[in-house]
Amino acid sequence: MILKHDVLIVGAGLAGLRAALEVAGSADVGLLSKVYPTRSHSGAAQGGIAAALGNEEPDSWEWHMFDTVKGGDYLTDQNVAEILALDAPRAIYELEHMGVPFNRTEDGRIAQRAFGGHTRDFGAAPVKRACYAADRSGRVMMDTLYFQAVKKGIRTYPELHMLDLVIRDGQVAGVTVYELATGEIHFIQARAVLLATGGFGKVYKTTSNAFASTGDGVYLAYRAGIPLEDMEFVQFHPTGIYGLGVLISEAARGEGGILRNDLGERFMERYAPTIKDLGPRDMISRAIHVEIHEGRGIGGRDYVHLDLTHLGEKRLAEKLSDISSFVKIYLGLDTAKDLVPVQPTCHYMMGGIPVSVDGEVLDADHRVVRGLYAAGECSCISLHGANRLGCNSLLDLVVFGRRAGLKMVADLGTIPWPVMPKSPEEPVRERIARLKGGRGGEKVAHLRRELQEIMTAHCSVFRHEETLAGALSDIAALQDAFGRVNVESQGERFNTELLEAIELEHLLGLGEAIVASALARKESRGAHSREDFPARDDESWLKHTLIQKQDKGYRIFHKPVTITRFQPKPRAY
Ligand code: FUM
Repeated sequence: MILKHDVLIVGAGLAGLRAALEVAGSADVGLLSKVYPTRSHSGAAQGGIAAALGNEEPDSWEWHMFDTVKGGDYLTDQNVAEILALDAPRAIYELEHMGVPFNRTEDGRIAQRAFGGHTRDFGAAPVKRACYAADRSGRVMMDTLYFQAVKKGIRTYPELHMLDLVIRDGQVAGVTVYELATGEIHFIQARAVLLATGGFGKVYKTTSNAFASTGDGVYLAYRAGIPLEDMEFVQFHPTGIYGLGVLISEAARGEGGILRNDLGERFMERYAPTIKDLGPRDMISRAIHVEIHEGRGIGGRDYVHLDLTHLGEKRLAEKLSDISSFVKIYLGLDTAKDLVPVQPTCHYMMGGIPVSVDGEVLDADHRVVRGLYAAGECSCISLHGANRLGCNSLLDLVVFGRRAGLKMVADLGTIPWPVMPKSPEEPVRERIARLKGGRGGEKVAHLRRELQEIMTAHCSVFRHEETLAGALSDIAALQDAFGRVNVESQGERFNTELLEAIELEHLLGLGEAIVASALARKESRGAHSREDFPARDDESWLKHTLIQKQDKGYRIFHKPVTITRFQPKPRAY
């Protein structure tokens, strides 16, 4: 079937929904989602959304901007951080007016809590900047925006998977999609396509990400010739449930939780003496690894404890009820009485599809690709630099999702209908036939596990030239083995085995891009810690990485960082 929309938004998480709300009423918009829209991964966000409202204590947008830049280890493009921090209060009140049920202060204003790396007076002490709804902030935002989308009558396509992004003569022509329920293939022609397809934490063994976070939009853009930016910067959230990776929100430490090693020490006092357990995530994840490496993991094992016992049952029930229930369900522990075993878990990708401040996708020459936009975690707007601060992601989604929506509406006047490609479904049909016809005996689950093991062992919190080089050739071997994958399920309806094979191809390509970018960057910055290059090197490496797929392999090149107000300084907390 051929479908047609002025604007097609791929991904119904918060960035996609916010953009769709901006377009609806001005143009015909379709919203495509790999999962049922309200199951999008934005709904898993827990702790809050940052904005310098100053409802609990003095705050300013300049402090917010500074924290974002410093948190990103000065790789953040400062013009972007300025837009974010300035627009944040407006974005929060807009959400409030749409119906988001934020927690309240005694006098009825939006309540705020402390969060990692958010400070007052340019780093002097933690500040309460995160607006929140208990520990299910993303959930309530998703439900509210989805309700608004239903109210506006936005056409949604649930459980349709984008399998090809079609670009012809420098203009997007549309996307080819696979309908999970029927196995049918459709082409959706559009004058503007917004990719809002989220991250790809599933490239790692332990992650807080949903099963669907396989980076489909990012990989398909990469395959279509768009370079990817800053792929080496992968965020590990310090507090995943040990062995599972399920997120225990940073809000737990914002409310006063403390990380302890085997000796019961509050070890963050040594690594971030000013803000301790509210240090940025890269720093805390590294500290946990060092504690474990030096033998102070709990019982000599590879985890530490999160201590919430002093917060009291009432506060835990009111502010941290979801995480308390996760701890009960998965570990059988009580946050009011027991210490919670935690370890860093892959949480967020700072890198992705390069975009302008209005979400326009940029090609290898930094020129706009006509009709193609991206927002949210799949994009790299260079806001989070080398390390994102907690609570800046939900804000990024609504601030830059809205801007992309506005820009698409503004651009539609000058974007003609793309020429309809001949048989646009054909490459996807061939791709599926190849996988279903494979007889090589390789199993998707096995190859995926191997990839996740390699990425976790060699390209997580700490990295080294030798192991990165080994990982790169191991991934190449897996890509080769992928050519021998055998999809046994031949059915048309809900063929999830086929879909997992396709997702694996995407994960393999993205894993390679992460490792290759990490190997190229010979310094340590933010979430990228090279044991063989332990120092930050602004002289040689204060620049963004770009990696572009070639017929064979890839090429790596760079572009400068935009610095406006804050000159790079050594980062201490
Ligand atoms: O810890 C958290 O609640 C996560 C927040 C975020 O990633 O922004």
